[in-house]
Amino acid sequence: MAVGLDGIIAAQTRLSHVDGEAGRLILRGHELETLAGQWRFEQVTALLWRELVPHAADLSADLGRGRMRAWQHFSPLLPTLNGMSAIEGMRFLLALLPDEPADASLLLAAAGVAMATSIRSAQNLPALAPDAALSHAADLLRMLRGKAGDAAEVKAFETYLVAAADHGLNASTFTARVVASTGAGLVSAVVAAMGALKGPLHGGAPGPVLDMLDAVGQADKAPAWIDAAIARGERLMGFGHRIYRVRDPRADVLKAAVNALRGRNNRIALAEAVEQAGLVALARHKPGRRLDVNTEFYTALLLEALDIPRAGFTPVFAAARTAGWIAHACEQQLDGRLLRPASEYIGPMPQAVAASEWSEAG
Ligand code: ACO
Repeated sequence: MAVGLDGIIAAQTRLSHVDGEAGRLILRGHELETLAGQWRFEQVTALLWRELVPHAADLSADLGRGRMRAWQHFSPLLPTLNGMSAIEGMRFLLALLPDEPADASLLLAAAGVAMATSIRSAQNLPALAPDAALSHAADLLRMLRGKAGDAAEVKAFETYLVAAADHGLNASTFTARVVASTGAGLVSAVVAAMGALKGPLHGGAPGPVLDMLDAVGQADKAPAWIDAAIARGERLMGFGHRIYRVRDPRADVLKAAVNALRGRNNRIALAEAVEQAGLVALARHKPGRRLDVNTEFYTALLLEALDIPRAGFTPVFAAARTAGWIAHACEQQLDGRLLRPASEYIGPMPQAVAASEWSEAG
């Protein structure tokens, strides 16, 4: 039995391929490195949605209109977000959308608006209305920070959105496909996927990566801090991956984007020291298992450099990954087969239960 479903092929997809041995991420025939930093998020989404979502060829206007519609829908509800964390607020807002009629671009646009408004609400800041004339990346960055980004910031944020748009059959995408396979709609699939993304073993890691950098404090303290954390049996956030046996290619793309913003972030030297100490310690701790940095490590640095609060990192991830969740849900619906694995029963059989209960009673 494959504990954790390791190595099990549960779906065929034309959307993305994660080559864990070579450290490659391929999106519909394109290497991530040729897309990130060059393509706009709208273009990568159109690539993923091709032949799956009607009218997906040019999404700029649709996403702009979708953000305006989502804002009309959500803005009267914003007081109800009081006291919710950013990820809970985003999940709550998206769950209010109807499954029918299915509208993929409205849902993706709404994910962006829900992300920005719930992050601001969790900080007790007023929400900002969208600007349909801006690109999706520029408008989301403006809405969530309350001020427009300059060209370098928008490019860095767009690089993040593209790098996070899709990644094979990860836990949240698998969740989206399971829900889609039941015939439930796109909103149900995306809201369920958000639940899976939230955990620290998946999309909840980048905030804790910054907590770790805070705790380490100075570059020269990294080796001792990391060794002590490993000795306590803790997992180092931002290290390790179920599929990659080499470096996660998204880590390099995101590190390059952080470096392009270097003047605005003074933690890159600390992060590099923690990365180095982590690699040394994990090689010693698990000699047979290559554990390298994953996407979340430099995601944390990049989003921090863009002045995005750490409690907002997972919602930002969700807003980007919604593009991939929708593509996978649509692809799964075409397949038409219910995803329903089996479990191995390891509990007692009725006769044994009856006998033992009888002897306990006696
Ligand atoms: N720190 C310390 N030890 C680790 C780490 C880590 N980051 N990652 C794996 N290990 C250890 C495990 O404890 C395990 O040891 P054990 O056999 O003594 O229990 C061993 O290495 C092998 O690990 P696996 O079981 O093969 O790892 P798995 O595939 O289950 O986990 C995961 C992958 C969940 C990402 C893991 O590496 C982890 O917890 N990392 C930290 C959290 C994190 O960065 N999450 C973001 C992932 S990226 C994403 O989802 C977008």
